[in-house]
Amino acid sequence: MSTKLIMAVPKGRILDELMPILAEIGITPEKAFSDNSSRKLRFATNHDGLDLIRVRAFDVATFVAHGAAQIGIVGSDVLEEFDYMELFAPLDLDIGHCRLSLACPEKMPDDLPTASHIRVSTKYPKLTQRFCTEKGVQAECIKLNGAMEIAPSLHLTDYIVDLVSSGKTLKENGLKEIDTILSVSSKFIVNRSASKTRYRDLKTWLDKFKALERNG
Ligand code: PRP
Repeated sequence: MSTKLIMAVPKGRILDELMPILAEIGITPEKAFSDNSSRKLRFATNHDGLDLIRVRAFDVATFVAHGAAQIGIVGSDVLEEFDYMELFAPLDLDIGHCRLSLACPEKMPDDLPTASHIRVSTKYPKLTQRFCTEKGVQAECIKLNGAMEIAPSLHLTDYIVDLVSSGKTLKENGLKEIDTILSVSSKFIVNRSASKTRYRDLKTWLDKFKALERNG
């Protein structure tokens, strides 16, 4: 009996764009997947050999890197922040487009104060440090997991680094973008060792996603 392949998918906005893609390549999750009252985290699909798990975006990379899931869908922001050696991203799915940006209150200057020290609220300390170091600025990062945009008005930090899509969240919280750190899109990711031990299974799914790219 062969073990099921696990595909990790992220909660939230990427999932809204991913669902039609899954449908197009013939993956139908069990009903509980789209039932908001369900507390299940692992879901069967119409394919006996494939289950889905739905987890936070950052955790998609962790599950796949450790081989708990063999494949997954995740934003390039997460891949760049973690830089896991145990996974690779053979395909850009052309969904989940947004950017990782540095932002601050509207009334502050548009440029970072050079040769100085700033405090930044972010879920991305590594990318933030790297970006600020390149700009000659020392960054002290305060790690938050969400709602970064509230931090400046409460004087936690003047700056934030977070994902920006429409810009609505920044605007409604009195903030402005001052620099783009990374252009983000979602990738199909694969656990490196599973790509050898389960080559055929993984290739089947990768080829389906790839075919979609050509047809689209
Ligand atoms: C993301 C991101 C921003 C917001 C940006 O949060 O962290 O807060 O979207 O989108 P906008 O530019 O279109 O306003 P999300 O709502 O996905 O939830 P999260 O805070 O749980 O990450």
